[in-house]
Amino acid sequence: MKLTLIGAGKLGKQLYREFVKHPSIELTQWLSRSASTSITAEGIELINATQKLRLTACYLIAVNDESIASVSSQLPTDALVIHTSGGTEIEALSRHKRRGVFYPIQSFSPERKINFSGLPIGIEASEKNDLKHLELLVKTLNAKTVYLDSKQRKAIHLAAVLVNNFTNHLFTQAAQVCRQNELPFDLLKPLIHETINKLDELSPYEAQTGPALRNDTETLKAHSKIIQNKELKSIYSLLSQTIMTYHSNEKL
Ligand SMILES: NC(=O)c1ccc[n+]([C@@H]2O[C@H](COP(=O)([O-])OP(=O)(O)OC[C@H]3O[C@@H](n4cnc5c(N)ncnc54)[C@H](OP(=O)(O)O)[C@@H]3O)[C@@H](O)[C@H]2O)c1
Repeated sequence: MKLTLIGAGKLGKQLYREFVKHPSIELTQWLSRSASTSITAEGIELINATQKLRLTACYLIAVNDESIASVSSQLPTDALVIHTSGGTEIEALSRHKRRGVFYPIQSFSPERKINFSGLPIGIEASEKNDLKHLELLVKTLNAKTVYLDSKQRKAIHLAAVLVNNFTNHLFTQAAQVCRQNELPFDLLKPLIHETINKLDELSPYEAQTGPALRNDTETLKAHSKIIQNKELKSIYSLLSQTIMTYHSNEKL
């Protein structure tokens, strides 16, 4: 499987590390805009401009969503061109008859090594035969194939933003509350781990606890009073209201 990887950000770097582990994935070039060296430690040609791209069978684009269309417009029209975005339709590659999507449902951060084994990867392709190439790529990584069209992929991406990006932002807000009160954030880690672990046995609905669920209005008021940050006050009030409404409606 010959392919060129374009992009060396959070996902691009992890894909590079993963691809070079598998001899059946023949990485011909890796495009990193800020690269200054010409060969990586693994012997792959490292380039820093699309003008230096050589012809190959498949190009995998891991650049920010807004640059996908412009990067793809610089690639040979008859090649298989794939993007990695959850929130971008396959049609962003409409200049290419052979287009595809390879969306790993995971959060990639610098300095974190992600295990691809069993990782769900949403794939889509315009041509049946290319879907087979994508299936093979997922299989080679020992990951899990999930067939998602552009509409389904957008929905799972939205759900991913809720469970990962928003939850992490709440962790950030909680860390600030701890700092302001000279408390270590580490005190919350057993609670954070249990919040995640119990989802193996309970649905998110069943797992809900807290003052909003219990309708403990005095506690809710007391919390609101001690929140210093205006935005956090609104988030707290809106989320508490949503929990109350959702759970009282579901009981009906
Ligand atoms: N990170 C995740 O958790 C995650 C998970 C699943 C899917 N994805 C998808 O993966 C893609 C990349 O995301 P990311 O998080 O890796 O983004 P990122 O860390 O911001 O990296 C984006 C990379 O794209 C490069 N780039 C931008 N425009 C370019 C151009 N015109 N030519 C060449 N390189 C260009 C940037 O180069 P410079 O550094 O030189 O600007 C940077 O290295 C996105 O489509 C995203 O939706 C990300």
